Amino acid sequence: MANEVFEAARTVMAVREYQDKPVPGEVLRRVIDAGRLSASASNGQPWHFIVVRDRANLRKLGSLIRTGPYVANAPAAIIVAYEKEKGEYGMSDASRAIQNMILTAWGEEVGSNWTGFAHMEGVRTEFGLPDTFDVLAVLPLGYPKRKPAGQKKRKPFDQVVSDEHFGKHMSAR
Ligand SMILES: Cc1cc2nc3c(=O)[nH]c(=O)nc-3n(C[C@H](O)[C@H](O)[C@H](O)COP(=O)(O)O)c2cc1C
Repeated sequence: MANEVFEAARTVMAVREYQDKPVPGEVLRRVIDAGRLSASASNGQPWHFIVVRDRANLRKLGSLIRTGPYVANAPAAIIVAYEKEKGEYGMSDASRAIQNMILTAWGEEVGSNWTGFAHMEGVRTEFGLPDTFDVLAVLPLGYPKRKPAGQKKRKPFDQVVSDEHFGKHMSAR
């Protein structure tokens, strides 16, 4: 039986070029809901998500993220912030929400990616987030311009997995 969750994890890739086609509001809502429904330490839910669709605001985002200028060309983006006082737990919680959102988008054939990494003060102030929040990432969203390559560059299974003890290959049983 096909496992759709594994298939999504297996095939999802960073998408950095988008068709000039809007992502329907209901799809965006579902993607963000996947983030909102994520588990978090002590169920603290320390996150806040800002959906951005206005072209001028998307351009602004692109100009503020050195490693993600292409956000400017996406039809939508989600700013992901977490309560600073939650520290490493907050970062972990928000990361989990990010992965749920990226996978849910992929399930709708919408490409995304993680851009930037924490302490994005320019994004925080421009979009009105209180200074109790840290912006962890910005996720551009859009229908991929071309079919993703499909072949992931990852370390081989046996290099990153051990069976019972570090360095012992996992047996088939
Ligand atoms: C924590 C994190 C931060 C990332 N930051 C960026 C970024 O700032 N800009 C970018 O274009 N991609 C970023 N990426 C995407 C990775 O570069 C990409 O997922 C990785 O190279 C593997 O490529 P693939 O997802 O297409 O297999 C980030 C990914 C993660 C998980």
